[in-house]
Amino acid sequence: AELVPVTLVVNGETRRLEIEPAVTLLDLLRERLHLTGTKKGCDQGQCGACTVLVDGRRVNACLQLAVMRDGCDVVTIEGLGTPDDLHPMQAAFVARDAFQCGYCTPGQICSAVALVAEGQARTPDEIRELMSGNLCRCGAYSNIAAAIGDVMA
Ligand code: FES
Repeated sequence: AELVPVTLVVNGETRRLEIEPAVTLLDLLRERLHLTGTKKGCDQGQCGACTVLVDGRRVNACLQLAVMRDGCDVVTIEGLGTPDDLHPMQAAFVARDAFQCGYCTPGQICSAVALVAEGQARTPDEIRELMSGNLCRCGAYSNIAAAIGDVMA
């Protein structure tokens, strides 16, 4: 297919790329930009492993064509914090043991950061409900909710 230009600000850096029109935001992040912190679980919008922030809102990157997001600001787990300087949500997940295998964690954390910014969740039940798009095969849900509660407190 003919390549099309797309410009994205990814983790604060402007990236101008020529891409095939059918490339998803997820594949662009992982394969073109080598930002493999964003995970591919189902590739069908069911699991939330691919959650990133686009203009501050959480989206499933597997459901987005990259060209649809031309001009947008994208933040992935790599853009939230570093091992030496964790984002408060990352620190809370560590403190609460809010993961086991870790595969869903980048998506959980991106989703959680947006959840707090949205300001809709007040109770543990509301946190669970508003995080229901992010599946965890290991069942770390109560620790994930506790970590988010710590950040909201
Ligand atoms: Fe996108 Fe599962 S990989 S929702």
